[in-house]
Amino acid sequence: MIHVVVTGAEGFVGRALVKRLLAGGLGGQRVSKLTLMDVAFDAPPADSRVIQLAGSIADDAVRACAYASPVDAVFHLASIPGGAAEKNYALGRSINLNATLGLLEDLRGQPRAPRFVFASTVAVYGEQLPATIDERTLPAPALSYGAHKLMGEALVTDASRLGWVQGCSLRLPGVVARPGDGAGMMSAFMSLLFWRLATGVPLTVPVSPEGVAWWISVATCVDNLLHAATVDADRFNARRSYQMPVLRLTVGEVVDALAVRFGTDRKALVTYVPDPFIERLFATYPPLLTPEAERFGLRHDGSVDQLITRAMAD
Ligand SMILES: NC(=O)c1ccc[n+]([C@@H]2O[C@H](COP(=O)([O-])OP(=O)(O)OC[C@H]3O[C@@H](n4cnc5c(N)ncnc54)[C@H](O)[C@@H]3O)[C@@H](O)[C@H]2O)c1
Repeated sequence: MIHVVVTGAEGFVGRALVKRLLAGGLGGQRVSKLTLMDVAFDAPPADSRVIQLAGSIADDAVRACAYASPVDAVFHLASIPGGAAEKNYALGRSINLNATLGLLEDLRGQPRAPRFVFASTVAVYGEQLPATIDERTLPAPALSYGAHKLMGEALVTDASRLGWVQGCSLRLPGVVARPGDGAGMMSAFMSLLFWRLATGVPLTVPVSPEGVAWWISVATCVDNLLHAATVDADRFNARRSYQMPVLRLTVGEVVDALAVRFGTDRKALVTYVPDPFIERLFATYPPLLTPEAERFGLRHDGSVDQLITRAMAD
């Protein structure tokens, strides 16, 4: 009988995580109360264990409602994406940084320090990437979004040292396959490839077929979030931060595998019109070595075939 809180629960990863928590519980235990936080909800909950809190995580009163009864685990997924945070610094800082601190500080009064899993990002590495990235690569964020996420990781580490939470940050790579048109996100092409090739609709991608990215399916991403919330807390490293393992694949390799799955003629649906800015940001990723994260129990999808299956499982 446990109480779990999910921020950003209406988002892409949040929805998949909520489904899994309701169906499978957490660490072998049934979730008896699931508090969902987001700015708004599309529909009322279909499950009586779910409480929807519509409002901002930056609002003290909303956070107080979420934590009114003892909390066993918090998954902190709410964020302002990089492009939007760059356009509105104050909003980005308020949600991506200040609200993260608020969510942690407000847990001080809990009877038992809850697990706290924070969704960080590969954007912490910045733009001038070394030839290989590993778990000792120093972050150098190039956007306020990445800078605030990195500060969030430090806040999770410190709140854990102080005994407020048993926290852990995971750096997420490009998660696929987000439904919809990507709402103007620059990385939308990564998910659109999956849905358009599956349904036979043409698309233009703003990168070259040789463009190389880091990929993870939403199902495997959720596996990793759940693992971080349930693994023995003695196993956390001192930073309490891990890079999620990834599959490093060219866009062409993903398209080829999608064509094998959905029909070889589907390859012709893709037109490549590289935009140097987008290519540099999303399709020039070096090898990423994550032995520590893998020993800790985090996983990538294993193969491009599994990536496709698990990205589209819902
Ligand atoms: N999806 C990816 O590829 C990816 C990659 C790297 C990092 N991440 C991180 O993982 C997390 C989840 O990603 P996602 O793809 O589900 O994001 P998303 O944008 O789909 O969902 C984020 C949710 O947060 C909510 N939110 C925004 N401001 C809020 C506020 N003030 N109060 C309450 N809720 C608020 C939004 O309404 C949205 O539903 C985010 O923190 C994101 O930064 C995601």
